[in-house]
Amino acid sequence: MNEKAESLQKLFKEKMDEIKLTSELEGLRVEFLGKKGHIADLMSELRSIPNDQKKEAGQRINTIKQFIETSIQQKLEELKKLEEQRLIDSAEVYDETFPCDTNTGSYSPITLVQREVEDIFLNMGFSIEDYSEVTDDYNCFEALNIPKHHPARDMQDTYYLSNGQLLKTHTSAAQNTILRKYAADLEKGLPLRAVFPSRCFRNEKIDACHENTFFQMEGMMVDKDISISNLIYFMKTMLSEVFQKDVTVRLRPGFFPFVEPGFELDIQCLICGGEGCASCKDSGWLELCPCGMIHPNVLTAGGVDPEKYSGFAFGLGLTRLAMMKYGIKDIRVFNSCNLKSLSQFTNSSFTVPEEKKED
Ligand code: DAH
Repeated sequence: MNEKAESLQKLFKEKMDEIKLTSELEGLRVEFLGKKGHIADLMSELRSIPNDQKKEAGQRINTIKQFIETSIQQKLEELKKLEEQRLIDSAEVYDETFPCDTNTGSYSPITLVQREVEDIFLNMGFSIEDYSEVTDDYNCFEALNIPKHHPARDMQDTYYLSNGQLLKTHTSAAQNTILRKYAADLEKGLPLRAVFPSRCFRNEKIDACHENTFFQMEGMMVDKDISISNLIYFMKTMLSEVFQKDVTVRLRPGFFPFVEPGFELDIQCLICGGEGCASCKDSGWLELCPCGMIHPNVLTAGGVDPEKYSGFAFGLGLTRLAMMKYGIKDIRVFNSCNLKSLSQFTNSSFTVPEEKKED
């Protein structure tokens, strides 16, 4: 048994070294940890082992299993970072030395992208909602089916105020308020269609891809008989508008406690058209927008009867979209207050009033 365990660990390490894409990891996980995987095979062999050796052999298998689980998780995080960086690196580079007149004000690239996307949603019959940046534990987590001590909270460490409130970690924090606002309209036969863009905050170590302050745009649609087909059709149409190109989308399973089922939505790479290139790391796909069917517990918490209504939600990363659109490789540019960098994206500049020029 010891020999078998050794060679299994060796095999795993060899296969792991060959993995280059997050999408390949699932296959490796099933091969080793799946119901019919190598670890399950080893477990079933335990039966034929003499009783006095069973305990030790069982422990050995468990150690390998844990090793495999942790390695896959670590690799997933590593690859995600690499893929994200590659995506950003592949975008067209803006010119930091571009001459600019800082007396003429300009919109931030985030504002430009946000307005563009808002227009698309307005044309699709959505309302644009506003929600505060300071919220509380209930709205940010509990109402979203993320109870205290749920592991999903680890990904979203934030800043707490001395009065117990917190800075919201995601735009999903507004879901409960918006469901409550429109619950009565649903009863009158009016569907809920809303998007809510906002600044979000997380206690992150800052680097070229991570900021403690960033922007998202959340969207929700709730009505009778809303299904995954509606979600797919809608996301495809919306993203084709955003990129001004017909995009092909695919869904992969993704876990978010407030949706069931939850998905990671990928679009076919816009640069190579799915053939595989450096920016999509030869996979042909780019991960863009997590989404899913709203969990019945979330609907109930928002005063909407999940027996009668269903809906979908999605979270677009506005900062990421702006990075892709304008070829901004370093996320820190957005909060840098460097007018030289920030002013060159504008297509609708305004002039700073005389009295403000010295500010
Ligand atoms: N709130 C999630 C985050 O920031 C993103 C998200 C995932 C939003 C799935 C959604 C959704 O609406 O359905 O990580």
